[in-house]
Amino acid sequence: MTRLGILLSGRGSNFVAIADSIAARRIDAEIAIVISNREEAPGLATARDRRLNAVCIPSKGLDRVVYDQMVMEELKRNDVELVCLAGFLRLLSADFVRSYPAAILNIHPSLLPAFPGLDAQHQALEYGAKVSGCTVHFVDEHLDAGPIILQSTVPVLDDDTVDSLSARILKEEHRVYSEALQLVVSGKFRIAGRRVVRTN
Ligand code: GRF
Repeated sequence: MTRLGILLSGRGSNFVAIADSIAARRIDAEIAIVISNREEAPGLATARDRRLNAVCIPSKGLDRVVYDQMVMEELKRNDVELVCLAGFLRLLSADFVRSYPAAILNIHPSLLPAFPGLDAQHQALEYGAKVSGCTVHFVDEHLDAGPIILQSTVPVLDDDTVDSLSARILKEEHRVYSEALQLVVSGKFRIAGRRVVRTN
């Protein structure tokens, strides 16, 4: 069973979707640890409520390299094999990325490479995009870059607000993150350049 490490900073709805998919046996994995960089993250409280191994490693005031070292040590201590970023609002250092080759996943609420960074749904609305969606990708040391594993699209409606568009995208995030995770856990893929290709 693949041991997952979940990193989050906030609400944690993607973490909950992953935990529910594991419980429903849609993902052959177990959650070894949930790490938040903010004590007040609601996702951390949810993880504790669910009796998962959940810790806060506060990032405030710490240098990126020092902080990432602390997180990496905690992940290694818990024999984590695959890292899932689930609303973790930090860029990872090159050392961190190198320590988990093709084994760190992130979800982003736009169709990358469109609208990377913060407030992706707001960016899509402002730009006037007619479709948007979400992207699950492997993480490299650049922001919202790395080979794309799965994407899902949603329409942008004329009367959408940031909230209504975000809600439509979030529903897809919850579905697609679990699907991408199961694909990675199954090992039935290879990475060819930037392309993640399914194998049998
Ligand atoms: C999601 O929109 C995700 O795509 C982005 O941050 C948000 C996290 O939401 N990376 P949640 O904490 O999983 O509810």
